[in-house]
Amino acid sequence: MTNSSNPHRLLVTGGAGFIGSNFIRFVRAERPEWTIVNYDALTYAGNLNSLEDVSGDDHYEFVHADICDRDAMIDALDGCDLVVHFAAESHVDRSILDSGPFISTNVVGTQTLLDACREVGSVQRFVNIGTDEVYGELPLDRTDLLFTERTPLNPHSPYSASKTAADLLALSYHHTFGFPTLVTRCSNNFGPYQFPEKVIPLFVTNLMEGKKVPLYGDGLNVRDWLHVVDHCEAVLAVLERGRLGEIYNIGGNNERSNIELTRTILTIMGFGEDMIHPVEDRLGHDRRYAIDASKIREELGWVPTRSAWPQALAETITWYQEHEAWWRPLAVRHAPAAI
Ligand SMILES: NC(=O)c1ccc[n+]([C@@H]2O[C@H](COP(=O)([O-])OP(=O)(O)OC[C@H]3O[C@@H](n4cnc5c(N)ncnc54)[C@H](O)[C@@H]3O)[C@@H](O)[C@H]2O)c1
Repeated sequence: MTNSSNPHRLLVTGGAGFIGSNFIRFVRAERPEWTIVNYDALTYAGNLNSLEDVSGDDHYEFVHADICDRDAMIDALDGCDLVVHFAAESHVDRSILDSGPFISTNVVGTQTLLDACREVGSVQRFVNIGTDEVYGELPLDRTDLLFTERTPLNPHSPYSASKTAADLLALSYHHTFGFPTLVTRCSNNFGPYQFPEKVIPLFVTNLMEGKKVPLYGDGLNVRDWLHVVDHCEAVLAVLERGRLGEIYNIGGNNERSNIELTRTILTIMGFGEDMIHPVEDRLGHDRRYAIDASKIREELGWVPTRSAWPQALAETITWYQEHEAWWRPLAVRHAPAAI
């Protein structure tokens, strides 16, 4: 357990991405006495414009480097006692096209980071940010079934396989070396600053441009949607108060099929179903993800408070409508959607 009023030095990998930038902003507000080192390679998904409001802050530093660069990592870790590891290749569709960068960043990068932390020796708590996709899929007709932390690992995509490897490496360092690992596994996030290749910002920005939205297969695949700031709050709780060596599932108890999500976006934005463009299903597309978050609720008292549906979705849509200057320059757009 950390003392939240101590002047901790926190290294955040992948802090220029969607969740990492929201997490840095959240920690700046919640723990203003902490210093945050944002370590990011600025791949296509990294964007410092997502952190304009904190970039001039005395308690914020940015290091432009790759997590596979062990020397740069060791330098950046100097004096850090806390680490939250978000950096990853995160887009399932890209992993189907080319799994190489996923193995490099998600597996080798995580191993490099873990070894650098051990060498530096100052890290007291390390959170590896994982995904519910490590558990594989649940059937659509068994809504009683949820992923718990004891559900067998059964990743189906190169993305989720690489994330499973990262989780297991981090946990193995706890078992083997007594390294202070914590693992979180979260469901699908939504909210501001998400790269517009992912389904919600892709659909919203397509509609803003008068384009149709590409919907995979029969649209019946189900995801459990959580607002990104609820996720950030859960990660901070695990970082400060989680039990070392433990896994914590994080979810919104907010299951929506892709067709339901699509119709809700269309309704909020005033469009009809003629704007749906059905496309061939994603290879190996998992049918349903759903999280049992009772462990983090019972142990750490975390419950989502910002994910109420559809209001939270409507607020997210409004954010993209009001922040064209943020998403327009992100020219790398990717269709069909990733859900
Ligand atoms: N987005 C979700 O719904 C979701 C859900 C559960 C878990 N996760 C996990 O959360 C983490 C963050 O996801 P996200 O959606 O914010 O991803 P993102 O793609 O938006 O951001 C990833 C960030 O990592 C950086 N990065 C990539 N490779 C790097 C490298 N080799 N070295 C240093 N930095 C590198 C990128 O520049 C970018 O800033 C990932 O580990 C992801 O697997 C995401």
